[in-house]
Amino acid sequence: MIEKLKELLPPRRVTTAKHDLDNWGRDWTRNFVVAPSAVVFPETVEEVTAITRLANAEGFALVPSGGRTGLSAGAVASHGEVVVSFDRMNRILDFNEADRIVRCEAGVVTANVHAFALDRGLFYPVDFASSGSSQIGGNVATNAGGIKVIRYGMTRDWIAGIKVVTGAGEVLELNRGLVKNATGYDLRHLFIGSEGTLGFVVEADLRLAEPPEPSRVMVLGVDRMQDILSVLTRFQADVALSAFEFFSELAVDRVTRHRSLARPLASSSAFYALLEFDANAESAALAAFEESLASGWVSDGVMSQSDAQARALWALREGITESIAPETPYKNDLAVRVSDVPGFLDDVDRAVGRIYPELEICWFGHIGDGNVHLNILRPPGLTLAAFYERCDAMSPGLFELVAARGGSISAEHGVGMLKRDFLGFSRSSAEIEIMRAVKTALDPKGVMNPGKLLP
Ligand code: MLT
Ligand code: ZN
Repeated sequence: MIEKLKELLPPRRVTTAKHDLDNWGRDWTRNFVVAPSAVVFPETVEEVTAITRLANAEGFALVPSGGRTGLSAGAVASHGEVVVSFDRMNRILDFNEADRIVRCEAGVVTANVHAFALDRGLFYPVDFASSGSSQIGGNVATNAGGIKVIRYGMTRDWIAGIKVVTGAGEVLELNRGLVKNATGYDLRHLFIGSEGTLGFVVEADLRLAEPPEPSRVMVLGVDRMQDILSVLTRFQADVALSAFEFFSELAVDRVTRHRSLARPLASSSAFYALLEFDANAESAALAAFEESLASGWVSDGVMSQSDAQARALWALREGITESIAPETPYKNDLAVRVSDVPGFLDDVDRAVGRIYPELEICWFGHIGDGNVHLNILRPPGLTLAAFYERCDAMSPGLFELVAARGGSISAEHGVGMLKRDFLGFSRSSAEIEIMRAVKTALDPKGVMNPGKLLP
């Protein structure tokens, strides 16, 4: 297999060195075996196609690999697969000003798209803490969300077209940047969120938006989780929000220590809401704050007076993942409809002591779009394997609450290997069978990312 790969690519772009296998064979998860056979670095669509055809002919498996910032082990190679890295397919290929579409190779880093758009007076609105490393191909494959979803939606909403290499080694150009295209099944959307199980996303046409107005950031102290939703409703009545995030006191404790940041408020609260809105809505936001204070929903608040202060407030939210990483959290990425959030949080609040006795929980997330991250922290002294086993055994208790409200057990992180065996809590068996049939149609030999997504 390795020799044949070296016939397709220059030998220096096929590696089996241990440190390369360890580096490119994993994502941000730390609890899965990392054991690829090789890592390859194609530079063209033709090379990706040739690798895929070889895998079909020789019967070996492929794992697509982008910025490796995933949290569900969708890009972990545990079983001797060949990792296909897009690090060398990182060119911005074209920009069409009239269409406001930028065509990228899969390996373009998200932050480079942000910078490219900014240089042209435009804006790519999908953003998250890992945007300095994550790649566009991975964003498409996981339908990445992030911190601006409440106003701008998910990656899916910004994809005008994609070029893919299917698991069978066929190149498909899907949608070609059209706004309107009523010609049957939109296969583009099958690949968005398919986690590398149907084929490789090799190029993407991203839509760019008007740049946003200057913004303000507010952080509010909230003592009862339920009140966060009253605050959201009150603000939304008068203020167009571009973000409505929340995090718990435990998260503030970790992130302020980890990044040496100042606490947001003089007093501490059980929870904090972070709001972002256009500066021209400042007085409406202040009125909503006063009312929230008078209603007893919030205990204190601060509003950014400069861009630097806005960035410092955002850092409190964006630094959480890295600050709790040493505690190798078991990550839950749950979503319900926004209208169901209060009832769902109530259910979870009451059940947490029963489901996770004696374990510390770090709450944060994008509560404004119905997505909460419930991170169970590993207690010191418990091995990683024992901790994950314990959490896996407890997951059904939590996922039943999600299923009862028709929610999602993975809102934006994907299923990968982490949530694969729990997929049935969010998708019916009929749906999973149809997903399998789609996989068979596009990847008949099952070479693409086996063991991920589908139980
Ligand atoms: C976030 O919201 O910060 C990301 O989804 C990452 C995470 O959940 O750790
Ligand atoms: Zn998130």
